[in-house]
Amino acid sequence: MSWQLALTVDRESRLPLAVQVRNSLRRLVENGSLRPGTRIPSTRQLAHDLGVSRSVVVEAYEQLAAEGYLLTKHGSGTTVSEPPTSQAVPTLVSPDRDREATEAMWDLRTGTSDIAAFPRQDWIRCVTAVVNDAGRQELSYAPPSGVPLARHVLTGYLGRVRGVRTRPEDLMLTAGFAQGLALMCKVLIDRGHRSLAVEDPGHPGEREFITSSGLHPVGIPVDQDGLRVDVLERSGVRAVLMTPGNHFPTGARLSPARRERLIAWARTLDGYVLEDDFDSAFLHRSDRVPALQSLAPDRVVYAGSASKILAPALRLGWLAAPSELMASIEHVRAGWDIGCSGIEQLSLARFIDTGALDRHQRKMRTEFHKRRGIIRRQSAAHLPGTQLLGRDSGLQAYLQLPPHMDEQALVRAARTRSVLVRGGRFYTLADTTRPPALVVSYASVNCTDLGHSLEALGEAFREVGG
Ligand SMILES: Cc1ncc(COP(=O)(O)O)c(C=O)c1O
Repeated sequence: MSWQLALTVDRESRLPLAVQVRNSLRRLVENGSLRPGTRIPSTRQLAHDLGVSRSVVVEAYEQLAAEGYLLTKHGSGTTVSEPPTSQAVPTLVSPDRDREATEAMWDLRTGTSDIAAFPRQDWIRCVTAVVNDAGRQELSYAPPSGVPLARHVLTGYLGRVRGVRTRPEDLMLTAGFAQGLALMCKVLIDRGHRSLAVEDPGHPGEREFITSSGLHPVGIPVDQDGLRVDVLERSGVRAVLMTPGNHFPTGARLSPARRERLIAWARTLDGYVLEDDFDSAFLHRSDRVPALQSLAPDRVVYAGSASKILAPALRLGWLAAPSELMASIEHVRAGWDIGCSGIEQLSLARFIDTGALDRHQRKMRTEFHKRRGIIRRQSAAHLPGTQLLGRDSGLQAYLQLPPHMDEQALVRAARTRSVLVRGGRFYTLADTTRPPALVVSYASVNCTDLGHSLEALGEAFREVGG
């Protein structure tokens, strides 16, 4: 049977053929032309019909299957699956993310990791070994705070790579950083807090999340030395969520003097710092300082996540908290769920123990360093007058634009060239004094695409008067 499909490709376009096929098919699913359950042509058939190589169609189908648009069953061909729905609950990820990305060729927005580089084979090996070895205990309920072995391994790992000073009893496995933040918000509310200080600029999804948890997010400005601790001191707030190792999104690092002052602030007020250490794995050795928590394990709650270092779908994160606070966090957690998947926790422990995590991070650091170099060179060539802030590592670049530039016009002009990128204002809460900027994430685009997207950004830049 040869199934037909109304699809064409444009050989003059700069879009790679696989991307064209993928985008067109996705559009047909989204606009309802292809209903769930519809059988679509085999890769061989469609490649033949379009006059392209089969690998082009295979790549497009694989991508759409990974995104949940297509279902491939051995022996019964490929059919359209139910389209993914957007979430209505508060989330740290913008709900518009997937819809917008379908129309774009290059997605330079923050909030993802390099999913294509997920070390599938190493992870499969670890999961397989864990499942093979699992006895009654491993397949049963674990304490809500996490499987003891996983907590033990993570404690050792965080001490080794981040200088975190904790014990397995004071470490909790969570469903990503999001759950850690939700737990902390609830504990703070129970202790009489009404507000939580956040960095401005910072993560808008986190601010919404904090608000929906019942706390008021109070923006504290950030400069080249990190959070303005003097402003925090005057704010009257007694807890702060921050990214001291690599400020999100400017890449500033909290200076040693401010680290000291921040700890003194927390001790004086009986306050807490929630340290979001989401991307330290991708900082150069020279840019990496030990976690803030190592200076004051009694005042700092350290939070990490597998979302950037492996993949968000794992929904794994961890919190290391002072003992008396951990008791309250455990109490709240016990009322919410009975912990996260023990199999995933043990797989992560094995992934760490076998050296696979260190290996993967080393590889990704080298890759991200290359991408950062492309941003540095290409922005100097195509976006004259812009300034790259922060240190030379991480997952995103903060490009400060010339003061006269219309940031939103540039974002729109980039979009017409298939580049999805956000301006600095997207991250700002109240600080309107910052010059216009672009925040360019290079986490999920390879070097070639990054080069093309910066050329396209350069065209947009010239169009809006750069
Ligand atoms: C600043 C920041 N912190 C933490 C995370 C990780 O959150 P989660 O572990 O819930 O996926 C993200 C993910 O986008 C982030 O941008």
